[in-house]
Amino acid sequence: MDFYLINGGPRKKNNTSKLLKKVNDGINDELTKNNINEININTIRLYDLDYKGCKSCFHCKKIGGKYYGECPIKDDLRELLPKIHECDGIVFATPIYFGDVTGEMRSFLERLMFSKLVYGRESLASKKPNAIIYSMNVKKEVADEIYENAVFKNTENYLEYTFGKPYSLKVYDTYQFKDYSLYENYMFDEKKKAKTLKEQFPKDLDSAYDLGTKLVKSLL
Ligand SMILES: Cc1cc2nc3c(=O)[nH]c(=O)nc-3n(C[C@H](O)[C@H](O)[C@H](O)COP(=O)(O)O)c2cc1C
Repeated sequence: MDFYLINGGPRKKNNTSKLLKKVNDGINDELTKNNINEININTIRLYDLDYKGCKSCFHCKKIGGKYYGECPIKDDLRELLPKIHECDGIVFATPIYFGDVTGEMRSFLERLMFSKLVYGRESLASKKPNAIIYSMNVKKEVADEIYENAVFKNTENYLEYTFGKPYSLKVYDTYQFKDYSLYENYMFDEKKKAKTLKEQFPKDLDSAYDLGTKLVKSLL
């Protein structure tokens, strides 16, 4: 079975990457438990790729066109997008930047979803288990008020249209700096952040692991 884990954050060892690693473990363990041994879990780091967002060329919608339903742009997504559309399950993970998914994630989602979007009809994409994980500095109360509709629902509505209803995991109040004393900040209290890191983040990692197992269970 083929899974794609799409990392939309730049940092290789921090919150988003750690959460995705747990998803990887959850998927792997659940498949193994069910005696499925052909497992390909591909983690894609968007910051390692060279691409831009949709260029509005509309080749993907041209009736009878050579690229109908596909994105023809020749860059690092050209061969990757069809593989993702063919896989068994996808997990997107992104930090929140300026109240949205990162620019890289946003551009990637445009390219992945627009080629399969048909105005006024069902998406051309094949439905599959999918999930999105967000990690952010703010606490749940703030995210509920500011990001719930603008970011979470909006992004998840498009994922649902394309792939089917996504699982969603929101990770709040993340530990941002390695050493809070080195960086200017009048908003976040290091002691409180350290407490969340110690007490809540392990639970978030468990939720990420469970998300991986759920994704597999929904396929079996
Ligand atoms: C450019 C930038 C913008 C950010 N904007 C927000 C924001 O609007 N809301 C928020 O809650 N956190 C914001 N953050 C914090 C990150 O979302 C948060 O620290 C996240 O957990 C980082 O993930 P990482 O550890 O995988 O890099 C921002 C961080 C950066 C670098």
